[in-house]
Amino acid sequence: MSHDSEPEMTVLLESDWASGSLVDDVRRGLTRHPRTLPPRWLYDDRGSGLFDEITRLPEYYPFSAERSILQAQADEIVVASGATTLVELGSGTSEKTRLLLDAFTRNGQLTRFVPIDVSEGTLRDAATQIASAYPGVEVAGVVGDFTLHLAHLPRGGRRMVAFLGGTIGNLYLEERTAFLGALADVLEPGDSVLLGTDLVKSADRLIAAYNDSAGVTEQFIRNTLTVVNRELGADFDQAGFSYVPFWDAHMERMDLRLRSEVPQRVTVPGADLVVDLAVGEEIRIEISTKFRVSRIAAELEAAGLGVTRVWTDEPGDFALTLATKP
Ligand code: SAH
Ligand code: TRP
Repeated sequence: MSHDSEPEMTVLLESDWASGSLVDDVRRGLTRHPRTLPPRWLYDDRGSGLFDEITRLPEYYPFSAERSILQAQADEIVVASGATTLVELGSGTSEKTRLLLDAFTRNGQLTRFVPIDVSEGTLRDAATQIASAYPGVEVAGVVGDFTLHLAHLPRGGRRMVAFLGGTIGNLYLEERTAFLGALADVLEPGDSVLLGTDLVKSADRLIAAYNDSAGVTEQFIRNTLTVVNRELGADFDQAGFSYVPFWDAHMERMDLRLRSEVPQRVTVPGADLVVDLAVGEEIRIEISTKFRVSRIAAELEAAGLGVTRVWTDEPGDFALTLATKP
């Protein structure tokens, strides 16, 4: 079968962020305690570029750990899934996904690849490159939010939904539960989920991964302020903040914050908001939850999915779990 190498693209998000939920997110996040700014807004074009740099940092082990599992197990994953459509949530550059696509090519069953991401430019580039590298596969990208748009996933065939990179760990527990429930709801019997999760390990390694010596992760986290300044006309002053990444041992998650180093007033005209920050006051930008294999299985089972297989890398840093809708 051969297809046009131009990918098809469906846009479910408004490209003008200021007219969308950014305003609500910023209003809600900055008026509660602890203050937060939602991580979805980290990924404008600059943010996506910085994330791509993060994946190449020596301290950022999750990328290479997940890649090594895919290198060793992609053929087994593909056979176990029996899928003819591969959906990828939060696909980004889909770099590691090529290992799955290669295995699907060897196995000869895949007809369609559906990458979904909020970052339109990154998604378009990735979809175009994949469409030309895998001419036998129809590529249908979706610019959308995986917490809102799962009902728009294309139907038909047997589907495997890959959710890699440990991105599920960036959701809060309530969001994660809602997300897994919504995902299980849209799957048909026989469809499966391939979930990548970072595992609990020593605080030193975790902190180093999110506090790299080149300062790329700090720039990535700070980019949220840049986005809010640009999109909502805010006047966040980067110099007034320091980057504070810490390991929350109780919640078993990295907690990535910006701390106000001076008393300051921030105005956000686009959200009709004035915020006074005291010295030491922190804004949480992102969490990155770390898992234990037993907990991943329990959460998937609670959502109504049956765990088929779990693969980890040699040092046990990262897990890939395949779960199937019964
Ligand atoms: N899957 C890739 C990228 C992980 S980074 C990897 O494993 O390396 C997280 C990706 O999820 C980014 O591309 C970001 O734009 C996207 N993303 C974040 N929140 C999202 C949301 N709510 N809906 C859809 N995509 C989202
Ligand atoms: N989901 C990945 C993680 O939690 C990537 C990521 C999301 C990330 N936000 C980040 C990496 C902030 C570094 C900093 O590790």
